[in-house]
Amino acid sequence: MSILNCREINFSYEDKERVLDNLSLSLEPGSYTVILGHNGSGKSTLARHINALLLPDSGSVEVFGLSTSSEDNWLEIRRNAGMVFQYPDDQMVTSVVRDDIAFGPENLGIPRDEIIERVEAAIEAVEMQDFADADPSDLSGGQKQRIAIAGILAMRPKLIIFDEAGAMLDPQGRQDLSDRMKSLNEQGYTIIHITHFIEDALEASRVLVLDEGKILYDGSPQEVFEHSDHLKELGLDAPFSINLISALKARGIDLRVTLGQDELIDQLVEVL
Ligand SMILES: Nc1ncnc2c1ncn2[C@@H]1O[C@H](COP(=O)(O)OP(=O)(O)OP(=O)(O)O)[C@@H](O)[C@H]1O
Ligand SMILES: [Mg+2]
Repeated sequence: MSILNCREINFSYEDKERVLDNLSLSLEPGSYTVILGHNGSGKSTLARHINALLLPDSGSVEVFGLSTSSEDNWLEIRRNAGMVFQYPDDQMVTSVVRDDIAFGPENLGIPRDEIIERVEAAIEAVEMQDFADADPSDLSGGQKQRIAIAGILAMRPKLIIFDEAGAMLDPQGRQDLSDRMKSLNEQGYTIIHITHFIEDALEASRVLVLDEGKILYDGSPQEVFEHSDHLKELGLDAPFSINLISALKARGIDLRVTLGQDELIDQLVEVL
């Protein structure tokens, strides 16, 4: 069964133009999907449909087999679809890391003993044991994002949606975040990573490119990067390896499209 099933959804804010345009999408449990798109292409609006913060004007959204159109399902959907946002500060609610992580499960009415167990496990999962009693406002941006992730993990969701969660981080911080998503995915979480950094797509099993509320491309990173010229026009520049391959191709050197540095080096050594 799919973990998410959007069928022909249309959506506009008030009576403005359409933000999601007849969009259909289904995701497999355990998948790792990157959603790329320029500013205003509808990425966050789609994310808000996935955890029932917005409802489509027409069409349907089912998450874990539950329709978002029924209010009775919202709590269950939100409990199982955690969201991590761009600004970790907005997700901090207390002045102690440990309490902050406990906030979500407390709201779910989880028994005290189990909360303690979940909080400790979540702190360990993001390697923040040394900061469990710290004040979140004293932490770096990357550490705050780890605490925000721990807060979501403590809810024991099936799906985690990261909406531009790396946007405020430096390149190393973004790489760490991306590595963490990969490791969470290996542990069984379904991951959706919304980003406009095209290199984030390298780790994903599936890449969707959104444009004007429609899915423009849908495939493996390799398949999607075949359209690097078009992506560039949309303001989504390809990773260095892809740019190098297409520059060499223009000079008559034909290499296989690859994202892995090692494979690229092997190919270059062969042809040069
Ligand atoms: N609350 C709102 N009320 C009215 N219009 C909105 C609202 N939120 C978003 N929009 C509009 O809907 C469109 C899609 O916005 P959305 O936030 O989904 O895009 P996005 O792809 O997430 O962009 P970004 O990369 O900037 O985060 C934009 O034109 C935006 O101005
Ligand atoms: Mg957005």
